[in-house]
Amino acid sequence: MSIENNEEFRPKIVAFCCNWCSYAGADLAGSSRLAYPADVKIIRVPCSCRVNPMFILRAFEKGADGVILCGCHPGDCHYTTGNFYARRRMTLLFSMLDYIGVENGRTRVEWVSAAEGVKFSTTMNEFVEKIRSLGKNVRLEDLRCRS
Ligand code: FES
Repeated sequence: MSIENNEEFRPKIVAFCCNWCSYAGADLAGSSRLAYPADVKIIRVPCSCRVNPMFILRAFEKGADGVILCGCHPGDCHYTTGNFYARRRMTLLFSMLDYIGVENGRTRVEWVSAAEGVKFSTTMNEFVEKIRSLGKNVRLEDLRCRS
């Protein structure tokens, strides 16, 4: 892909955020007027462990170029150990995705607390830049979803 194409490319990013920390962090970023790209679509979940690996596969199938999962810091999960389960699940899923050709950079897990609006904004900006450099994801895309 040429540089000209990358400049026009606006990646579709899905961000799963747990209700208790990361979503509040996103809220803080917004109320503090910290910018992050509008291409990031946030899906609020009760806990990071609520994110079934199928949700991530489905996001890619529906045309997402990158998927990020944000939750409470280890030890801070509202449900005690939910993020430990999420971390294990995602480690496995991401390595399987990498094996089938969805690059590791297209997926990410990040711990963002309710007080870390700056971290939320920085993480999203970094992630969008990374996805821009990787280009469009076509590996798992369901061709029937193309408009
Ligand atoms: Fe935030 Fe579990 S409640 S990761």
